[in-house]
Amino acid sequence: MSGIESRKSQHVELAMSAGSESSRSALWEDVVLPPVAIPEMALSDIDVSTEFLGRRMPTPLLISGMTGGFDEALEINRNLAAAAEELGLAIGTGSQRAALANPALEATYSVVRDHAPGAYVIGNIGMSQLVAQGSEAPFDETQIERAVEMIGADALAVHLNAVEELIQTEGDRDMAGLHDAIATCVGWSPVPVVAKETGAGMTSETATRLAATGVAGFRARPALRPRLLINWTVRCVCAPASG
Ligand SMILES: Cc1cc2nc3c(=O)[nH]c(=O)nc-3n(C[C@H](O)[C@H](O)[C@H](O)COP(=O)(O)O)c2cc1C
Repeated sequence: MSGIESRKSQHVELAMSAGSESSRSALWEDVVLPPVAIPEMALSDIDVSTEFLGRRMPTPLLISGMTGGFDEALEINRNLAAAAEELGLAIGTGSQRAALANPALEATYSVVRDHAPGAYVIGNIGMSQLVAQGSEAPFDETQIERAVEMIGADALAVHLNAVEELIQTEGDRDMAGLHDAIATCVGWSPVPVVAKETGAGMTSETATRLAATGVAGFRARPALRPRLLINWTVRCVCAPASG
């Protein structure tokens, strides 16, 4: 097993172990649904379908990118894909770096498209691979296209995982030039690019800077608590950026 493969396996093991959940609130307690005592409509009138990056989705939900790149990920992604197909959810894969380095691992990602032929599928690459890391060259246009083609992706997520790279012993810590590198990736990608934070959150300032790169959407939890910011960021998650 390569270094990347064993790390991907450890991520899943860690996520299943006790105490791996964030102690910070996901802010659901700030969401209050006002009761409507006289609704004046039939339940069947309710339509939760939504437009997501140019596609009509039956439900406004997506399974976020999490895994791929080691043997057991095949079954996890197959199960998630089957659920996405049945329920009409969008679905992301984990970082495709492992398969770009070793094509023998491609099936652990492409299984998502195989089992969710009708779903909105989102590929995934890491921001750190868009800039050089020491002697390791950044991804080029061919690799970006390959990531999309590998899974028949409808969109490509660039995951923004600065905290993870800093904490991980073997993390890729050179993050200079990222803004321009993301803009270049947007130009190369044959499908819309989504900027995806991985749990630490995103401030409105960062989201505004990212919009200038041409990304088509964001996926992040708000980084700070003020209600205004939450509203703003949630809107960014739901609506394509105008920039
Ligand atoms: C086991 C595990 C592996 C993950 N791997 C990836 C990954 O490869 N690429 C990615 O973009 N996000 C990855 N994530 C991050 C999730 O997609 C998501 O952004 C994160 O759990 C934060 O979600 P929240 O902001 O809703 O709390 C991973 C999360 C977990 C738990």
